[in-house]
Order: sequence, then C-alpha cells, then structure tokens
Amino acid sequence: MNLLILGGNGMLGPWVVRALKNKHNILLTDINDPHPNYKGEFLKLSVDDTQGVINASKNMDMIINLSVLRPDRKLAFDVNTMGNYSMMMAAKENKIKRVINTGPHYQLAGPQYEEWDHNLNPDMPPASGTRLYAHTKALGQEVCRLFSNYYDIQVLTLLYYNMKHHWDLSGPEASNTVYHNDMTPYTTSWIDCGTAIKSAVEVSDDKLPSNCETFFVLPDIPHGKFNNQKIRNILGWKPKYHNEGLWNKEWRNPPDRLTEAF
Ligand SMILES: NC(=O)c1ccc[n+]([C@@H]2O[C@H](COP(=O)([O-])OP(=O)(O)OC[C@H]3O[C@@H](n4cnc5c(N)ncnc54)[C@H](O)[C@@H]3O)[C@@H](O)[C@H]2O)c1
Repeated sequence: MNLLILGGNGMLGPWVVRALKNKHNILLTDINDPHPNYKGEFLKLSVDDTQGVINASKNMDMIINLSVLRPDRKLAFDVNTMGNYSMMMAAKENKIKRVINTGPHYQLAGPQYEEWDHNLNPDMPPASGTRLYAHTKALGQEVCRLFSNYYDIQVLTLLYYNMKHHWDLSGPEASNTVYHNDMTPYTTSWIDCGTAIKSAVEVSDDKLPSNCETFFVLPDIPHGKFNNQKIRNILGWKPKYHNEGLWNKEWRNPPDRLTEAF
C-alpha cells in the first residue's frame, strides 16, 4: 500500500517506518528534516497546511498521523486539532478509505478516569480534562469522528501511554536512568508502538466493528488499571516486550537507537 505519514520525524516515527517499510511504500513528511539514516521518500510538510496535505495524499491508500505539538496554545491547536482536519479533508478529497490517528491515553481517559477508576477501556465516553495537549488532541479526535460519520472514512485511533526503549528505559527525554525507577508500569517499548500501527494498517475491514474505533496500546498490566483486550482482539496486536522484562532490563546491549530503528 502507499502510505502517507504526517509528523514522522519524532520519537515514534522511525519505529513506524521500521514496522512498515518492508511491505509498504512510505512517503514520510514532517516540518523537520528526517534522520540521516532514513533512506526513503521525504517531503517537508506542515499538517496545518490543508492543501499541502491534500496534495501529498494523492495516490495514497492510507494516511497515518504521528504529528504532535505539546506546548503553546495556538501551535498545539494548529497541529493537534487542525492537523486532523487536514488529514480528514485529504482523505475525503482523495477518497482514502482509512486513516490512522495517534495520541496519548489521556485524550480519552483524562484525570477523572485515571485517578479514580480501574479496567479503563477505549470505548468509554472521552473525558480529556483541560490539559492543553490532551484537550487539543481530543478536539482533533472529534474532528476525525465527524468526518468518519459523514464521509464513510475509517478512523483507527491508537492511544499510547509511556513509550520507552526496551534496552534504555530512560528514553531520549530523560537524562539519567535509575534502575527499577525509570519506567511506569504502563511502559510500551518503541518497537511494539510501531507494530501497533502496522496492525492498524493491515487489519481487514470485516474485523472492524465500526468506521471509528479507538484502541489503547499497552502491554499487559498486572494491576488491571488499563485494559488492552480490544487491540489484542480486533487488531491482533501482541506486545513483544512485557512489563516484567522491561522492569528487569532483560533486553540490553542495543546498537545505536536510531540505527536499530531504521
Ligand atoms: N512519546 C510518548 O511517550 C507518547 C506517549 C503517548 C502518545 N504519544 C503520541 O504518539 C504520537 C507521536 O508522538 P512522538 O512521541 O513521536 O512525538 P514527537 O514530539 O517526538 O514527534 C512529533 C513530530 O511531529 C512533528 N510536528 C510538529 N509540528 C508539526 C507540523 N505543524 N506539521 C508536521 N509535523 C509536525 C515534529 O516535528 C515531530 O517530528 C503523537 O500522536 C503523540 O501524541 C506519544
């Protein structure tokens, strides 16, 4: 399939490319340049440039949106909300049947859920709370849902918790790794985050209960706070790296992080 990736040069993008590149043609886009190890097609594109996203989507079978901007009220809205508007306009104009959207778990399961409840699942009514990142992503999700209803476009949304390396759980954003104190029990390895997108790209239409489905991407969590049954059952995604192994650092001695990704 021909796949357009929006915002593909962040932390998740390389793992999505890695999961997809052997079976699919990828056009990677972002406002920033790709990593020098990336060898495929690239286009500099901002997701708030709706016409640009429509043009880039011609001849595409699917669009995958990995873009995000966390601080700054206007930019967060332009990227997290209007980026989805561009993606959905592009799907509508180019008759693209499926889009894959991404975001954090709390764009759906905000503090009202997370602080008080258990067995949280992605079919709960969304309650993002007012945090800028979560709220703008939740608005973007609502844009997707409406387009999905009106224009018969499949929207599969993958919501992640913490993503980390299976060998170095400090991740690029942390400066110090403190053994056994450097991950939450919700950590998902980058490799598994990438294969979750592949599962969403490749799942057959008949497996989808509706045109607009949301999934939590998490390994099995012993305390049952979040429930990952839906992604397992419908997309057939299985995490390779589980909590016990991540916690005990079973997977070490990695090559360079992005060398492995590409
Ligand atoms: N990293 C995590 O732990 C985590 C956790 C939960 C959810 N997520 C979700 O996963 C997805 C990917 O996140 P990430 O960790 O790779 O984020 P990231 O910040 O590393 O990457 C985001 C990318 O979006 C790009 N971008 C920003 N503004 C843009 C614009 N106007 N047009 C096009 N691209 C633009 C950035 O250049 C960057 O390459 C997001 O939907 C995010 O909400 C990430």
